[in-house]
Amino acid sequence: MIFWKLVIFFRLDRSRYFHSLRTANISKVLAKNYGLSQKKCYKAALLHDIAKNYSDSKLLELVSKYNISLSDFELNTLAVVHSKVGRAVLEYKFGVKYFDILQAVEFHSLGSKNMNDIAKVVFIADYIEEGRDFITDDFRKDVLAEKDVNRAVIMVYDKTFDYLRKKGLKLASVSVEAYDFFKGVIDEKK
Ligand SMILES: [Fe+2]
Ligand SMILES: [Fe+2]
Repeated sequence: MIFWKLVIFFRLDRSRYFHSLRTANISKVLAKNYGLSQKKCYKAALLHDIAKNYSDSKLLELVSKYNISLSDFELNTLAVVHSKVGRAVLEYKFGVKYFDILQAVEFHSLGSKNMNDIAKVVFIADYIEEGRDFITDDFRKDVLAEKDVNRAVIMVYDKTFDYLRKKGLKLASVSVEAYDFFKGVIDEKK
């Protein structure tokens, strides 16, 4: 893992580097909760923001280089595009082949109904890592106490949607679709 730590150390600013380490560490805890590979979750989380420090123009250059398709929402919210570009950089520049890790990086900003369990872990971990001061310790504890990964995803979406609605910001349709999908999965289990 030292190679990947160095890669992100040199690609990210200090605060984003430490955010990545914290996200990776809490991913391990989540992986244990859900009975998933701690190593894979750690690696996916460590790499999730690999493209975060690119400028908008660099992101758009890579979008065209790697033929990445963007939704209208993404075109209007370039801050989320580092997810898809990050996946492409890992796949094409670094030769990462493990599909679940690539998907986790691709989906970490908005989520997706297609998220595999490792992607769900990274999605949750990115939101609740210890450096996030927009959530309370109680919320973090509640998420960590939840043993059902889909319920934890819904907890994160609930908070995110609340925040965006209060700010009068649009929700991405892929996020709403994912929310409805995982709500359905939970309801079916009842
Ligand atoms: Fe990110
Ligand atoms: Fe992140």
